Amino acid sequence: MRLVLLGPPGTGKGTQGKMLEKELKIPHLSTGDILRETVKKSTFLAKKMAKYLKRGELVPDETVAEIIKKRLKKNVVSGFILDGFPRNISQAEILDNFLKEKGICLDRVIYLEAKEKILIKRLKDRRICFNCQAVFHLKSSPPQRDLICDYCNGRLTQRDDDKEETIKRRFHEYQEKTKSLIDYYRKKKILVKISADGDKQTVLKRILREVKYG
Ligand code: AP5
Repeated sequence: MRLVLLGPPGTGKGTQGKMLEKELKIPHLSTGDILRETVKKSTFLAKKMAKYLKRGELVPDETVAEIIKKRLKKNVVSGFILDGFPRNISQAEILDNFLKEKGICLDRVIYLEAKEKILIKRLKDRRICFNCQAVFHLKSSPPQRDLICDYCNGRLTQRDDDKEETIKRRFHEYQEKTKSLIDYYRKKKILVKISADGDKQTVLKRILREVKYG
């Protein structure tokens, strides 16, 4: 199974990606997670990428495409769940060509949607572990101890791009660049629209129903 998770910030791509990884036993590859790990380093490239992430803007296509191709090489046959890639038509074409060279294609693109009001609440109260990147939400999935990660005892922090101004810019980037992928994949007849409104388990069930029986 080769899946892409698509949707505006906060729809739960990362959350569902991790749950689907367990259910379907295929790896979840998140460009956001990979880039956040990369910018922790003190290289020239890391510093350059950090600026894009902090501003809530897309990192240049070539940089992200190289990262994702490297990771996909290991998983391309057995299957994968891509979260955060592609983000625009140019990245979608890069992915199509890469898969075509291997003689395969995507099975489904899961488009998660919910009202912006709900998404903003999710993003403002999200906290992530600085150490292992586990994701929490202060109300819907709080850690057992205040601001301490349940999995590694790491410190929970707010993502730089979850500040109000940057959230607005990320929604703008989504509207300007990523939304056009809905039509791109609809034309290929692999787009599945799923409501991301509801608790995590409810959304997971909706996705699994489509992926297994749709
Ligand atoms: P990325 O990390 O991909 O950010 P995003 O697309 O904005 O998505 P988010 O991670 O904010 O949200 P999500 O949908 O994963 O929601 P989550 O599951 O965490 O990218 C970050 C940056 O990296 C970009 O801005 C860009 O700079 C760069 N980048 C990444 N990919 C790139 C690419 N391909 N090209 C160029 N640049 C790229 O959930 C959110 C919160 O809600 C959590 O607290 C969670 O616990 C909670 N929650 C989730 N589901 C539910 C639910 N059903 N009910 C209640 N709460 C829920």
